[in-house]
Amino acid sequence: MRFYIKTFGCQMNEHDSEIIAGVLQQAGYQPCGSVDEADIIVVNTCCIRESAENKIWGYIGNLKNVKYQRPGVIIAMLGCMTQQSTIGGALKRYGSHIDIVLGTYQQHRLPEYISRVIAGSGRIVDVSEDNRDFPDELPAVRAAGVTTQVNISYGCNNFCSYCIVPYVRGRERSRSLAAILAEVREAAAAGSREVMLLGQNVNSYGKDLRRAGDAAAPDFAAVLREVCAVPGIARVRYMSSHPRDFSPALVDEISLLPQARSYYHLPLQSGCDKTLRAMNRGYDTAHYAAILDRIRLQTPEAAVTTDIIVGFPGETDEDFQATLDFMARCRFDAAYTFIYSPRAGTPAAKMAEQLPLSVKKERLRRLTELQNSISLEKNLAYVGRTEQVLLEGPSKTDPAFFTGRTAGNKIVICPGDAGAVNEIVPLTITGAKTWHLEAL
Ligand code: SAH
Ligand code: SF4
Ligand code: F3S
Repeated sequence: MRFYIKTFGCQMNEHDSEIIAGVLQQAGYQPCGSVDEADIIVVNTCCIRESAENKIWGYIGNLKNVKYQRPGVIIAMLGCMTQQSTIGGALKRYGSHIDIVLGTYQQHRLPEYISRVIAGSGRIVDVSEDNRDFPDELPAVRAAGVTTQVNISYGCNNFCSYCIVPYVRGRERSRSLAAILAEVREAAAAGSREVMLLGQNVNSYGKDLRRAGDAAAPDFAAVLREVCAVPGIARVRYMSSHPRDFSPALVDEISLLPQARSYYHLPLQSGCDKTLRAMNRGYDTAHYAAILDRIRLQTPEAAVTTDIIVGFPGETDEDFQATLDFMARCRFDAAYTFIYSPRAGTPAAKMAEQLPLSVKKERLRRLTELQNSISLEKNLAYVGRTEQVLLEGPSKTDPAFFTGRTAGNKIVICPGDAGAVNEIVPLTITGAKTWHLEAL
């Protein structure tokens, strides 16, 4: 039987899909390239914002037709949406054709459940955000691509007041350093040059292990050092960092690691101290600025990107202006900007002063306009410089060209004969746009 996986959401979910593929192949199922060829359709879902959920219910709704035409097809819904408290009602309304509903830490049970459904069990639902029994080592069939994704921790303990992740991914659990290094070494042996370490808050790595009595458990800096030391690995990225658990001293340590020192993704969320408090982020703009200043001092060549939410409940015009002013001071290379989306069960969804969509949209427009002009200025400064570019493959928009990334994680469009996939080549930057560089 053949399976097809459709993935929504973040890197964590992308990597979960690699594990789902691994588990299914180990059980003898074969991957295929489309819904039409598949006997088993797996939808790996995300609920970070309402817009994501709507899109996914739309996708799942379209599968009704497939099930009608081929009733033997098995449809499985996995990932974060399944863990929400509202999933029962939603399934009744939109998901009568779904056979298997599995939570974020149950993917290794999928083959067993598929067999049961084939044997006539009817719908199976198994959701729990408890990750204590989740196996540390599962097979992963990695998607084609130059970056190897490796989990260093699961779950999140931060409970930012707007965020659903702690409710759907459970408490933070660090993987053992041995398991992490084994995966990285395997990736290096298979020719991978770049590793992405995954966790909702990578900087708090090891805290749970120390709390549980392992006093010698490494911290994030130690994990990063060990991963950077694996022969063959030229670049190490990590996501996401949490400014509360980041410090100027950590910047000093990272600046000693050539594989990691040129890129920081440090989600700010808001440039207004009052809003940061209401978001329960645990830091203020002064702390954030101190980290950023140290990055610019130690590694002036490093690119820095961020995440920002506009329209958080109670955000006034003055509060939003504070974010614009702070963004202008920080001069990020890029920012991923989001309209605040109320998530059922989170404290922020219950706050008074929810803002109208029109206000949120207007703020997003102003923020994007400011950031785009900064991004373009920053990128134009690269023209004429030579950058080390890790080649990723033919461009999706025009296969005559290749795309790659600089050490600072900027996308570079270059000629198709610039080199082979996975190679790091020096290229002179000839042009710049808001979201990418050109070396043509
Ligand atoms: N653990 C990561 C983020 C995961 S979610 C971190 O803390 O950085 C990715 C981004 O989605 C967040 O950084 C935030 O900017 C945004 N986000 C999370 N919840 C949101 C919500 N309810 N509405 C809008 N954006 C949200
Ligand atoms: Fe969500 Fe905050 Fe955890 Fe990130 S750190 S996943 S934003 S609760
Ligand atoms: Fe979405 Fe879950 Fe990631 S909610 S952003 S897929 S952790």
